[in-house]
Amino acid sequence: MSDHRKPVTAPLVSQRKVRDGAEPLVMVTAYDFHSARLADEAGVDLLLVGDSLGMVVQGGDDTLEVTIDDVVYHARSVARARPKALVVADLPWLSYHVSLEETVRNAGRCVREARAGAVKLEGGAKRLSAVRALLDAEIPVMGHLGLTPQSVNALGGFKVQGRSDDAAKRLLEDAHRLEEEGVFALVLECVPADLAAQVTAELKIPTIGIGAGAGTDGQVLVWHDLLGLTPGPLPRFVRRYETLGDRAVDAIRRYAADVKSGAFPSDAESYAVPRPARVKGA
Ligand code: KIV
Repeated sequence: MSDHRKPVTAPLVSQRKVRDGAEPLVMVTAYDFHSARLADEAGVDLLLVGDSLGMVVQGGDDTLEVTIDDVVYHARSVARARPKALVVADLPWLSYHVSLEETVRNAGRCVREARAGAVKLEGGAKRLSAVRALLDAEIPVMGHLGLTPQSVNALGGFKVQGRSDDAAKRLLEDAHRLEEEGVFALVLECVPADLAAQVTAELKIPTIGIGAGAGTDGQVLVWHDLLGLTPGPLPRFVRRYETLGDRAVDAIRRYAADVKSGAFPSDAESYAVPRPARVKGA
């Protein structure tokens, strides 16, 4: 099916405010060629090569083992689907914390080697110099506030953020400072819905929520959660739109039963050995 959509770019995304009449942004994570191809065919705006890959692809307990090599590898596979959606590569822990030079080099690999159109990083005031360095290198940056999984040890677990007045004030300030620095969009993860709505109302750039209620300019879900590939229990904000995990087990069981009973492969699923033509009179 031909896709006549215009490619989604960071500057286009930066203008997508629902209050100005824009449709909400749809972002989903993708980690390989086919997940990117399918999500793009479904018409999403953004494909996030999230460091959540450490959990849903690599099977880890958190995202801290993900390296920049992992993100470049997965982002390259995603970009090979040549999606119209904007490919955003998630900078993993320690890829932008050591020095500005390393930050730019690592993000640059996501653009040059993986062909991502933007990168995402977690954190507020502490990360402004990294944002500035990346924008100086012409790399669009998406921000991420609230529950920032790379800070799981510092936060003391995966918990809703911004609940106290002080924490909410800090989050609002961080959001403004990231916008002033030039991020083109902001992910808000696991924050109270009224706080996310307030951030969304105060910023000119779009917000994209996950566990942040309906008052943001868009939503993001993790591919495996949305399609029912991760076993429960899932966080309350996840809506499963399919049960592909159960359907995969069922399909593989049927395949195994056919192998054991001899029903697979059939003659039609086998190649015949070519026989030499009979020589007349031989
Ligand atoms: O890594 C990821 O998938 C994310 C989203 C949950 C926003 O950062």
